[in-house]
Amino acid sequence: MTALAPEPITRPADVAAELAALLAPGSALRRNEPLARRTTLRVGGPAEIYVEPADESELAKALRFCRDHDVPFFLLGRGSNLLIRDGGIRGVVIHLGAPAFSRIAVEGEQFRCGAGAKLKDIALTAKRHGLGGLEFLEGIPGNLGGALRMNAGAMNAWTFEGVASLRFMDYNGVAHDRAAREVETTYRSCPLLKSAVALGAVLKGRPAPREQIEAKLAECQQKRWTSQPKEPSAGCIFKNTKTVPAGRLVDELGLKGTRVGGAVVSDVHGNFIINDGTATARDVLALIEVIRTAARAERGIELDTEVEIVGEEE
Ligand code: EPU
Repeated sequence: MTALAPEPITRPADVAAELAALLAPGSALRRNEPLARRTTLRVGGPAEIYVEPADESELAKALRFCRDHDVPFFLLGRGSNLLIRDGGIRGVVIHLGAPAFSRIAVEGEQFRCGAGAKLKDIALTAKRHGLGGLEFLEGIPGNLGGALRMNAGAMNAWTFEGVASLRFMDYNGVAHDRAAREVETTYRSCPLLKSAVALGAVLKGRPAPREQIEAKLAECQQKRWTSQPKEPSAGCIFKNTKTVPAGRLVDELGLKGTRVGGAVVSDVHGNFIINDGTATARDVLALIEVIRTAARAERGIELDTEVEIVGEEE
């Protein structure tokens, strides 16, 4: 006799009730959770169902529940490279915000870090232990999970350059550890993590004189403070092209200061769109199209967005 496949659950209230009944008290589940404040750009609608699993076994439960009942889910990280549309995100939004996911443990010259650990905290922990090589992480707003997923970079260094091994969970709720050399990465992408959840990584430091680490950290901070805007943004909007950095291209096209509603091309750096406090996702998306159209028409260049765009139109 074959077991019948579980019925898809369609009503958000039923999904929320069934999932809540499955999770342990240490996990959080809320409906209609505002997400704009959970992104650095500060736009976008709510999560239909928002879950913060307490630990890996709770995350596994949530993933299996979504698989078994055909419920769409989305992994929300620090929200620093993310544009959520104004209609919000349907299904379950999972955020690894619980303390179990953000540990940073120093083991000799390596750090075992959870996906929820802030990149800045990792860089500063490395400094405290006299370990260099990870200073560039200070310059990237976000947490480790997102940086792994998009192989984030700054100062000509990439996240995976500092990774010894990766820990991730597949969508069946099974955790794996894999040596970084066995994980494919490209500019701004780790394809494996497009269909798996980053749980963390072991990062490699190398002993270095304290002054050298401090100088490198200061250089990263300085670069960010002088060349990038301080207003809310999603970081770089476009990937650099093979021929020209996107920021320079936008600058050369004379588009700095261009505005749609509350979204403005930064005067400081052409590859940043800032939110003046009143922007909607629709404004930002319209401004992205203004830039892409100009790049195509005037320079024959197709700009690809680096920022991840998700959710429903309003
Ligand atoms: N430039 C201009 N005008 C501008 C902006 C830049 O002429 O308005 C020129 C700069 O003078 C420079 C070149 O364009 O010659 C590149 O600019 P920059 O050095 O600022 O670096 P980027 O390529 O624009 C990259 C990453 C950033 C990272 C910085 C710092 C991409 C898409 N961006 O920016 O990452 O912070 O290097 O290392 O690869 C992000 O991923 O969100 C991000 C901001």
